[in-house]
Amino acid sequence: MINTTMVIGTQWGDEGKGKIVDYLSRDADYVVRFQGGNNAGHTINVNGDIYKLHIIPSGVIQGKIGVIGNGCVVDPEVLIEEINALEERGIKPRVLISNRAHVIMPYHRLLDGAAESYLGGKKIGTTKRGIGPCYSDKIARLGIRMSDLLDREQLKQRLDVILPIKQSLLEVYGVKEKLNEKEILDRYIEYGSQLRSFIVDTHIILNQAIKEGRSILFEGAQGVMLDIDFGTYPYTTSSHVISGGGCIGTGVPPGFINRVIGVMKAYTTRVGEGPLLTELKNGIGRYLQEHGNEFGTTTSRPRRCGWLDLVVVKHACILSGLTEIAVTKLDVLTGLDPIKICVRYSIGGKETDVFPPYNVDKYVPIYKEFPGWDELPSKPKDFNDLPREARDYLKFIEDYLGIPINIVSTGPSRRETIVVSR
Ligand code: GDP
Ligand code: IMO
Ligand code: MG
Repeated sequence: MINTTMVIGTQWGDEGKGKIVDYLSRDADYVVRFQGGNNAGHTINVNGDIYKLHIIPSGVIQGKIGVIGNGCVVDPEVLIEEINALEERGIKPRVLISNRAHVIMPYHRLLDGAAESYLGGKKIGTTKRGIGPCYSDKIARLGIRMSDLLDREQLKQRLDVILPIKQSLLEVYGVKEKLNEKEILDRYIEYGSQLRSFIVDTHIILNQAIKEGRSILFEGAQGVMLDIDFGTYPYTTSSHVISGGGCIGTGVPPGFINRVIGVMKAYTTRVGEGPLLTELKNGIGRYLQEHGNEFGTTTSRPRRCGWLDLVVVKHACILSGLTEIAVTKLDVLTGLDPIKICVRYSIGGKETDVFPPYNVDKYVPIYKEFPGWDELPSKPKDFNDLPREARDYLKFIEDYLGIPINIVSTGPSRRETIVVSR
C-alpha cells in the first residue's frame, strides 16, 4: 500500500508547517524537502525545546531520515552548520541529499543582495540567501550540483565557465568583490568531502521505499502564494511550492502521492514585499503580531498580519489538490471579537473568488464576520472541547473549501494538537 503524505503551505509561508511535519513524523520513515533552500525557517517546539531548521527536514527531530530532494537549493555551509548545531544538542541527524540538488554559491548570495539594492523601492524583500540567483542558474544551465562537489576536476571545469560571467554580472550591479576561483574551489571541494556519504540518488531510494510500503512525508517550504507561477509574481520565491513541485523536486511520480495536507494559519501573515489584501495596519494587526509572535524565523523581520483570506486558501486547494487541512494558531485569535474572514474580492462592481494574476492591489476584500471567543481550554484534545464560536469558525472554513479540517493546532508544542476524529 502506498503511504505518502505531502504537507504544503497554503498562504505566504510560516503557516506552522514545521510543527505539523514534526507531529506527523512519528509515523514516517522518511521526511523529504523538495523545493526551496535555507530561505525556509521551520520551528519545532518539543514541549519547550525549540529547534529552528532551515534546510534539514523537520522529521530528523523525531529521528527520521531527512531527505533533501533534487528540487532544493543547498547552501552547504549552512547545511553543515545545521548538522553540527543539532549534534551539539544530542540529535545526530540522518540526512540524504540528492546528487542533483543545486548548490548555492557565494556569488548567488552576493547577486541576491545586489539585485535587491538595484530594485530599491521595488525590491522583493528576499531573504538574501541566494535562492533566486541559484534557481536562475539552474534554469539557465549554469548551475553547480551537489555531485559536482565530489569531483575537483569537474567543479573546476564548471567554475572556469561560470565565474567570469558572474564576475561581470557583479560589476554591472556595482559590486566590487572579486571572485577567487582557487579559494572557491578549495572551499566547495572541502564541503563535498564532508557531505560525501550523504550525497546519493535520492529518487531511487524514495521510489524503492514507496514500493516497499514505507511511509514518506513530504515537507513543503514557503506557501502557495510564494509559488513562482501561481503566487503574487514577482513578489514570490523562485521554486514550485505547489504539490506538483513535490513530484518534480523528488522524482516521485504523481500517482505515488495519496494525501496532501494544506497547512493554514487561522489568519494571514506575510514577510517581505508584495500585495496582502487582508492586511491590518491597525491595533488588530499588532494584536495578531504580538500574540502570534509573528517575527520571521529566518530573518527576524516582523511579519505583516491580517484576517484569514479564503480566496487565497481556495487557490491553494485547487493547485495542490489538497485532501485535508491542518489549521494552526487558532489560539492567537482568542480575545478578538468580531473575527473576519475574506470570502470574495470585488473589483469594478463585480465580485470574484478567483485569485487574480496581476493588479492584485486593485481588488477589495469582502468579509464575513464571526463572533469571537474569550478563551480556549488549555491543551484541548478533542474538537468538541473548543468553544462553540471557534467550532463555527472552523466549520465555515471546511464548508467553504469543501475539504475536511483534520488537525487543529492551539499552541506551538506537540501536545497542543487536536486530531479531529470523525
Ligand atoms: P513554518 O515556516 O510554516 O514551519 O512556520 P514557522 O515555524 O516559520 O512559524 C510558525 C510559528 O508559529 C512557529 O514559531 C511555531 O512554533 C508557532 N506555532 C505553530 N503552531 C502554533 C499554534 O497553533 N499556536 C501558536 N501560538 N504558535 C504556533
Ligand atoms: P517558510 O518555509 C515566509 C519570502 C521572502 C520574500 C520572498 C522571496 O519558513 O514558510 P527568497 O529569499 O525566497 O527569494 O524571498 O519569499 N519567503 C518566505 N516567507 N516563509 C518562508 O519560508 C519564506 N521563504 C521565502 O520573505 O518575500
Ligand atoms: Mg517559516
